[in-house]
Amino acid sequence: MTSNPLTLTITARQDAPGDIMCLTLADPDGAPLPPVTAGAHIDIAIGDQWRQYSLAGDPADRSQWTLGILKDPESRGGSTALHAGARPGQTVTVTGPRNHFALVEADRSCLFGGGIGITPMLAMAHELAARGAAFDLHYCTRSAGRTAFLDLLGAAPFAGHTRLHHDDDATKLTLAALPAPAPGTHIYICGPEGFMDWLIAAAEAMGHAPDHIHREYFSAEVDVTGETFEVEARETGITVTVGAEESIVTALARAGISVDVKCEEGICGTCLTDVLEGLPDHRDHFLTDEEKEDNSEMCLCCSRAKSAKLVLDI
Ligand code: FES
Repeated sequence: MTSNPLTLTITARQDAPGDIMCLTLADPDGAPLPPVTAGAHIDIAIGDQWRQYSLAGDPADRSQWTLGILKDPESRGGSTALHAGARPGQTVTVTGPRNHFALVEADRSCLFGGGIGITPMLAMAHELAARGAAFDLHYCTRSAGRTAFLDLLGAAPFAGHTRLHHDDDATKLTLAALPAPAPGTHIYICGPEGFMDWLIAAAEAMGHAPDHIHREYFSAEVDVTGETFEVEARETGITVTVGAEESIVTALARAGISVDVKCEEGICGTCLTDVLEGLPDHRDHFLTDEEKEDNSEMCLCCSRAKSAKLVLDI
């Protein structure tokens, strides 16, 4: 997979229920797009910032990429700007695709998408259907009237695997939809933080192994504040003090050390850095619990230190 910037053309825009906009992107000259696997996302440049969007189309289709973008006034403005300005014929700069949410081989896969969290699940459902795999897709929305992608779901090769759940009627998702734990069963969850936390906690309580519960956060409330500590950048030999209200990225920038960031919410992994000494205080949603316990890497945009000093491989 490439991470070089690509210039792509918006070939279609469709406004769907639930404040969701579907965009399709294609190469301006009609060339095949880079290969993708289900669960991948791309980064789109919006002004001087980058936002991550999952690819929702059939991964086997290299003629176009499909995105679902929720207009979220509570977000940092990227989705609102795209909703206001995106038009067919315009070009956008993207990087990726990258995939931190890939399918694993399983006897049975259960996909749970809440709201806009359905987008990576659509790509997964395409891939699982193409494999002839055993799977269920649960799509949860507030109401039937705020449910996007209904046409697509009705015509999809995985229509028979799909269950719709609306919060305001009898179809509302209950924990009975979770499969029984089994060595070959894997669960995938994407959606609002509360929806994810509820399902993850319930699946763990049922006895599903944590590494069989796959998750992708779209955005996260992340508290970057805490006690001050020191960070040494080993390559440069520079040591900075990270203040109570700032991130490691911000403190390093003051000393002239630039760290690549994209989401700045601990979900994309762009700022992941090796830890040489010290104990991180992980605040991100990117690393797995096992990786956090290992303490050999950390996300500098949001995580802090439990020790008085960290030494980083930068
Ligand atoms: S910039 Fe995305 S995890 Fe830090």
